[in-house]
Amino acid sequence: MWTKEDLTKTIQKNLKGYKFIIASNKEPYMHEYKGKDIKCIKTVSGLTIALDPVMEAAGGIWIAWASGNADKDTVDENNCVKVPPDNPRYTLKRLWLSKEEEEGYYYGYSNQAIWPLSHIAYEKPIFLKEHWQIYKKVNQYFARAVLEEIGNDKAFVWLQDYHLTLAAKYIKEQRPDAIVAMFWHIPWPNPEAFRICPHKKEILAGLLSCDLLGFHIRYHCINFMDTVDFELEAKTDYEENSVIYRDHKTLIRPFPIGVDFEGISQNAKSQEVKSAIDNLTSQIPPPYEVLALSVDRVDYTKGILERLKAVDRFLQKYPEYQKRFVFYQVGALSRIHIQTYKDLINKVQELAEEINWKYKSGNWYPIVLNNKGIDYEQHLALYRSADLCIVSSLHDGMNLVAKEYVAANVDLKGTLVLSQFTGSARELSKGAILINPYDFDSTADAIKKAIQMPREEKVERMRRLRNNIAERNIYRWAGKVISNLARL
Ligand code: G6P
Repeated sequence: MWTKEDLTKTIQKNLKGYKFIIASNKEPYMHEYKGKDIKCIKTVSGLTIALDPVMEAAGGIWIAWASGNADKDTVDENNCVKVPPDNPRYTLKRLWLSKEEEEGYYYGYSNQAIWPLSHIAYEKPIFLKEHWQIYKKVNQYFARAVLEEIGNDKAFVWLQDYHLTLAAKYIKEQRPDAIVAMFWHIPWPNPEAFRICPHKKEILAGLLSCDLLGFHIRYHCINFMDTVDFELEAKTDYEENSVIYRDHKTLIRPFPIGVDFEGISQNAKSQEVKSAIDNLTSQIPPPYEVLALSVDRVDYTKGILERLKAVDRFLQKYPEYQKRFVFYQVGALSRIHIQTYKDLINKVQELAEEINWKYKSGNWYPIVLNNKGIDYEQHLALYRSADLCIVSSLHDGMNLVAKEYVAANVDLKGTLVLSQFTGSARELSKGAILINPYDFDSTADAIKKAIQMPREEKVERMRRLRNNIAERNIYRWAGKVISNLARL
């Protein structure tokens, strides 16, 4: 099993003499005013949680958009702050965007064009010229910040995700010697889906400025290469998994991302988590015997409405579970200035209320919605307490909630119900119960199966899942990317 120390050694061996720079839209830590005090908050997203331990091992510089209202008051003259706050291990360099830039680059092109374009969730992308212009400008800002940090040194630059498709091109124009990798955290669609994008050629050319381009699964690598074949005059090599475009070669590789299995398992056993479990019990409407859980950002790709409909179907089809079953949905709010997200928040609320009204009896009701945001210990408390965790994404690059749930399941008592349209279903099919989230009826049956499964089978499945996730952890993922980079 890869450890943090192994990763540190790999980095020291392979990145000797090079600066290590990561850039992503989201920052791993934000500073927020709480009254007059400033609080440092660890941001919650699969990407930042996965990369934070990697950066702790690597040191280096992480460049990201500043999103906290006290961010400006906590940086030095180079816009940098050392993090994590309790035990600083790396530098966070913040980048400021105006409201107009935030609107065009983040809410606009990133999340209303590329996000729906890449996920097959039947939400139409919106391509606006004004958003695209600002998106390009902000990608230049990121490239400029990276170039500033490179200075006269040699550097490995690791870009993250769909917000930064053009940054590699701008970096390479100035510093062709910099080694640039990009990891795409979401699915890559098939060529038919991608061809509707008016800026497709520029996006592909931007990505093909990277030396290494990583996706979670081989299927997305193939989709990407097929898209290039379809759209550009480039040489794709399916043996080597590479593309040559304008005399530059990009290696295309699958790197299925993992979680800090050991860290999560240890923390799940902590005293703080045990106390959080006690607090949690008081929030769940009694009486109940079975607790089902989902944890997501409220996003149409996550299949939250489909999941609620499946819970409804379950209670209708198997009425013996009324007053015995509670479904707890943690829904973190994000991208709330986009109309589709606003509408979804309302629809989730309305549907949950409707279902609760239908089945409510005495103090008991079946669905608890928590949109208030919960801390790390409460997350782990929920993971440890839930008899089953339902991940019903309509399409997902990997889905790290599935892996976190397993890592926190130290008592081996939980069951994972997992959408077959997630990247993680490719790795976890042996232990999880796979579902098609569009099919409410079979999801309802899967919930019943998870509850009624004999204890020995539950333990056996969970043990398999844990072995898989322990081995393919976050340190191995980062180690593999870095070893591949070093070979360049
Ligand atoms: C997905 C994306 C990440 C993003 C996260 C949170 O996991 O792949 O790049 O940071 O969602 O999205 P948000 O828009 O809230 O930052």
